[in-house]
Amino acid sequence: MAESKNKVLSVNNLEINFKTDNGIVKAVRDVSFDLYEGETLCIVGESGSGKSVTSKAIMGILANNAIIQGGNIIYRGENLLEVSEDEFYKIRGHKIGMIFQDPLSSLNPIVKIGKQITEAMMLNNDKLKLMYNDLISDDLIRYKNTLAKMNIAISNEKKILEMKISELNAQEGLTSAMKAENRKKIKQMKADFKAFEKKTREEYSKQAREYKAELENSEKNAKQKVADYKKKVEDDYKAKCAGLKQRLSGASDDAEKNRIREELKAAKLEYTNSISITKEEARRRAIEIMREVGIPEPEKRFEQYPFEFSGGMRQRIVIAIALTASPEILICDEPTTALDVTIQAQILELINRIKQERNLSCIFITHDLGVVANMADRVAVMYAGKIVEYGRADEIFYDPRHPYTWALLSSIPDVNSKERLEAIPGTPPNMIYPPKGDAFAARSKYAMNIDFREQPPYFKVSDTHYAATWLLDEHAPKVEMPKIVSERIRLSLEVNHEQ
Ligand SMILES: Nc1ncnc2c1ncn2[C@@H]1O[C@H](COP(=O)(O)OP(=O)(O)O)[C@@H](O)[C@H]1O
Ligand SMILES: [Mg+2]
Repeated sequence: MAESKNKVLSVNNLEINFKTDNGIVKAVRDVSFDLYEGETLCIVGESGSGKSVTSKAIMGILANNAIIQGGNIIYRGENLLEVSEDEFYKIRGHKIGMIFQDPLSSLNPIVKIGKQITEAMMLNNDKLKLMYNDLISDDLIRYKNTLAKMNIAISNEKKILEMKISELNAQEGLTSAMKAENRKKIKQMKADFKAFEKKTREEYSKQAREYKAELENSEKNAKQKVADYKKKVEDDYKAKCAGLKQRLSGASDDAEKNRIREELKAAKLEYTNSISITKEEARRRAIEIMREVGIPEPEKRFEQYPFEFSGGMRQRIVIAIALTASPEILICDEPTTALDVTIQAQILELINRIKQERNLSCIFITHDLGVVANMADRVAVMYAGKIVEYGRADEIFYDPRHPYTWALLSSIPDVNSKERLEAIPGTPPNMIYPPKGDAFAARSKYAMNIDFREQPPYFKVSDTHYAATWLLDEHAPKVEMPKIVSERIRLSLEVNHEQ
């Protein structure tokens, strides 16, 4: 079944570390998932589990101390971790949009809302330049990507070298012989790195030279095409004007003259619109999008500042800005966490509606499994940098298998009492020293000996549902999920039946 759907994005074995003064933080550990066209994939897990780092990696906005240790993110056949800034900019601004938790930090407090929306459009208002960029885009990106791949490969290798060196230097209580041994090791590693760098540069440079020649050729062709187009538009406009002006001089009554003058104006607007996006056009589109995201009186709101908007309305504006670029994928990182519960529901509804109408593929990140119920087609549960369980939403809600998923389900506030029934005991691990085995074991009353020793593989529950817990091993004792979870499942199934 899964194979018949189109994959729009694919994350494979992603490993992301951060270099800090206290050591290496292992933030994302072997994370893989696919995003299918038109679906919402929810990534859920407690604070610190690696959700934001994963989404930032997709957006190419990781902090400077990040080390991409391994894996790839495939979008349209390219690994986003290896593309040049040109392409990333293009993708980030156009194909993949992102909405963050705090709408205030995404808006400029001293710029009117309307301007912030149109600015995003006006960035690209020169249609001739756009046309030129489009024409050379494939060749430019291929060339730049080659250089980027080279630089990324070298810089990653360098970061790994530095990490190893600092690990060796941090060793304590060494004899002088061991110290000498380490110095020798470091010298060798540095030499290996130099050799790697040289080889990598040679390999990529040859390719880059070929691509550059092709790029120069396509730049020449593109220039000619754009010039031809411009000339045609101008000639058409001039011819039309000449015709209209002749009619004007021959016209006798005022009504006729006025009609011709209107036609002249329209011709001029048509001409301007075909070489650039005018301010009026951008304003018209901005107001249309504001209406789409449910801003009442958009013409009036267009002239206001962010502080004149409520939190919910601000988040709608942020969504509107993301939509101006007509993205294909929308990443929402805890977009409602800062909002009141009622407003939260409205924003979720909005995201759902926009997703349907625009056929977006959506990655929706939250720490609250309760929020997921009405959003997700599929759910990935993350803990300590790993996906511990994933499946269709109904599989995660009605047939959860990982003790961590049980714990998250137990901690959803009850619909009636609004009480959080069972807080998850303990705290997530320090990711400088991620635990061996199943990272949740220390907090789980279902943990077995093996959980503290060995990383569980993904056990298959169904074609679409997998969980990394030793409880699914054939040798494991049969355990029941917590009563509170099974009771809830029973109750909600009953309710669904009655409806
Ligand atoms: N720039 C950074 N430097 C060091 N550690 C970081 C950095 N960014 C994130 N982390 C760590 O990575 C882990 C995952 O963080 P994050 O993805 O933000 O979690 P969440 O699931 O709450 O979004 C956390 O332990 C966090 O402290
Ligand atoms: Mg986060």
